Amino acid sequence: MKQTSICLIGAGGIAAAHIDAANFLSSSVKITAIADPNLEVAQKLATNLDAKAYTNFEEVLADSAIASTIDAVIICTPPSVRLPIVEAAIKNKMHVLMEKPIASTLEDAEKLTQLAAQNPQITCAIAYCHRFESGITHIKKLVESGDFGRLVRVENTFAAPAPQMKDHWMSDPKVSGGGSLIDTACHSLDMFQYLAGTPELVGAVLFNGWEGRGESNATVLVAATDKSELPVAGTINSGWNEAMRFQVNVVTEKASFAYDYCKPNIVSKQTAGVEGIEEINLGDQPGRFGGQLKAFVEKITNGTESDLATFADGLNVANVIADAQGHTQCECCS
Ligand SMILES: NC(=O)c1ccc[n+]([C@@H]2O[C@H](COP(=O)([O-])OP(=O)(O)OC[C@H]3O[C@@H](n4cnc5c(N)ncnc54)[C@H](O)[C@@H]3O)[C@@H](O)[C@H]2O)c1
Repeated sequence: MKQTSICLIGAGGIAAAHIDAANFLSSSVKITAIADPNLEVAQKLATNLDAKAYTNFEEVLADSAIASTIDAVIICTPPSVRLPIVEAAIKNKMHVLMEKPIASTLEDAEKLTQLAAQNPQITCAIAYCHRFESGITHIKKLVESGDFGRLVRVENTFAAPAPQMKDHWMSDPKVSGGGSLIDTACHSLDMFQYLAGTPELVGAVLFNGWEGRGESNATVLVAATDKSELPVAGTINSGWNEAMRFQVNVVTEKASFAYDYCKPNIVSKQTAGVEGIEEINLGDQPGRFGGQLKAFVEKITNGTESDLATFADGLNVANVIADAQGHTQCECCS
């Protein structure tokens, strides 16, 4: 079987998770090229993978011997620089798996979504990897079984004490588009979308603890409408100066399912009116980045449909974020 040849663009922190995923799928995937302005970092990763390092994507494209072998790109740059990279990838018929969030501005998010819609032969996916986290996919199956009544609410908190974020590009609105809401809670908003449907903003309280930077804490209330036209609520919290919590609770009429990322592969189930909590152990499961890359590769090689987030899904999340950023409720952040 031909291996899918991938160019990794951006060789920073999250690149390692994508490289691990490629190694996990080594019989079907090969990282051929790595591009990063920090050539030393790109070179270090490339050496381990028997790949070639470049300072940017244009250089990769100019190396026709390599470029002609590349099927897809995985984009792990900061959001603000991605539009020309996606344009070039699509022009060169390369499929795109791009890190979250879709963009740093709503304008770029709209342009990217339009570009993907105009090129349906190219798979354009956003790396909303929590769609492939074992506990979350299992909870989705339980909810969709219909055995537990209608979905009432999704509660999600992704928070941690992260003072280093004050000086990181992720809290620089010009590069990231904001702070913890766009960087972290974008995952939560997509998880809500995955479990409940397209989110609409109901209300938001954002707090900027660091002058001149994006929101350090965000609380957002969203809603979707289920098949029976009934509302499903989403309560979403993110924060960079709070105690660590990576928790999801999914509440239906008859039961509540909890997933704590600190206890991977275990879903806790509490049935309404029944004492005690049942622990569902999912056993060893592939990590979310492995599951995501597998879905991406199967889509581009066989056309297999999966739960990959599309650019249109990314735009739905971007719309809620833009609404929330325009909905701040304290003077310091308006
Ligand atoms: N899915 C997740 O759970 C998860 C976790 C962390 C980060 N991320 C996302 O991944 C993206 C990257 O985050 P990170 O933590 O790796 O950041 P990082 O700062 O560690 O790495 C970004 C890299 O991109 C490089 N870069 C900048 N401009 C470039 C360009 N034009 N071409 C090629 N490379 C360029 C930088 O030199 C840097 O090495 C962000 O969008 C972030 O939100 C996702």
